[in-house]
Amino acid sequence: MNNRTKTALVSVTAAALLASAAQAAGKLEIFSWWAGDEGPALAALVKMYEAQYPGVKVDNATVTGGAGTNAKAVLKTRMLGGDPPDSFQVHAGQELTGTWVVADRMDDLSSLYKSEGWAAKFPKAVIDLVSYKGGIYSVPVDVHRSNVMWYVPATLKKYGVSAPTSWSQFVSTCATLKAKGMATPMVMGENWTQQMIWESVAVGVLGPKGWSDLWSGKLKFTDPRVVGTFTTYGKVLDCANKDASGLSWQQATDRLLAGQAAFNIMGDWAAGYFTTTKKLKPGTDFAWSASPSTNGTFIMLADSFGLPKGVKDKAEVMNWLKLLGSKEGQDAFNPLKGSIAARTDSDVSKYSVYSQSAAKDWKSKTIVGSMVHGAAANEAFSSGFGSINDAFVSNHDAKAAAQAAQDLAVKSKIGM
Ligand code: GAL
Repeated sequence: MNNRTKTALVSVTAAALLASAAQAAGKLEIFSWWAGDEGPALAALVKMYEAQYPGVKVDNATVTGGAGTNAKAVLKTRMLGGDPPDSFQVHAGQELTGTWVVADRMDDLSSLYKSEGWAAKFPKAVIDLVSYKGGIYSVPVDVHRSNVMWYVPATLKKYGVSAPTSWSQFVSTCATLKAKGMATPMVMGENWTQQMIWESVAVGVLGPKGWSDLWSGKLKFTDPRVVGTFTTYGKVLDCANKDASGLSWQQATDRLLAGQAAFNIMGDWAAGYFTTTKKLKPGTDFAWSASPSTNGTFIMLADSFGLPKGVKDKAEVMNWLKLLGSKEGQDAFNPLKGSIAARTDSDVSKYSVYSQSAAKDWKSKTIVGSMVHGAAANEAFSSGFGSINDAFVSNHDAKAAAQAAQDLAVKSKIGM
């Protein structure tokens, strides 16, 4: 070995040492509500990150509770208290832009989108959802569908019914099932899962255009058509279990699997739960259709992560976001999660039969945003709607619910 080679080797080793020392000092806190049964997809991504950046200590911080009801409350306290997590789960759309971006709490990621060439890899509509006044504020890791009705073919066969395709058919199928001895034809869980049923009913009753008009402020909640969404919702609720408020979404779907109920309306993280946790076979052990009256529509939501202003571990966050947005990252995460990739170039052969059908629908159906999961409405509206739902579940007063929703929309600056 000559001296030049020796010097070169020494400096290469020194550079490597320096690099690994820098990595060893690194840490990254990822904040989400993907704990327990909801954890495997995120765990797969974290594992990839740790393999790429072995020196970085990852804190996979989770606050349990479906739809982030609990996590979002903790997040709010931390953000307002000047202690933001390095990167947190946030829904693409109004939950991000109309909540944290307008409050000037997020860094612009346009340069990352540019260096990764993501403008050509994500659908424009998805990038628009995470953009605000020329900046791009998060990286979507998935696309979930909200309007899915799940059932077990053997249960329907046993009772001699088929999956209803409209809400009026749903109500009559429900009567048939009750007459045949099934006490609760539909199973639902805690408050936010009930709101998802209203969301599906509202899109069915108003159509995608009417639904979008609600969030742009063109259609008032007090409009008779919107009052009608609550009336139908009331009839649908009459098919459901009365102990819903004590059930997580997983416990509700467990009842479906046990044959205690025929239908469950839930986002397609349920497909992840069925296939990843329960090891069930799509199409046989469980099946699905669009929620009644919404066959032409895909109510979407997307989980994303961003870079809050003022965090210390910025370099680690940027590497995390790069992985989240990569083809490899998305194709490791989504098959386990029940969602489809937000990117357009994912390898569909890695996905379940359910997800392959969702990927097809994502391309062919009319897309609208979910209110419950922050695409269509900001956090002020989504969280406030919980009490309107609770009141409606107990009093079934459609006019009062519509009026309360209109008041909330004004207060939350919906459509402004
Ligand atoms: C949604 C989230 C999904 C899933 C679901 C149930 O808000 O976007 O990824 O976690 O809640 O907790």
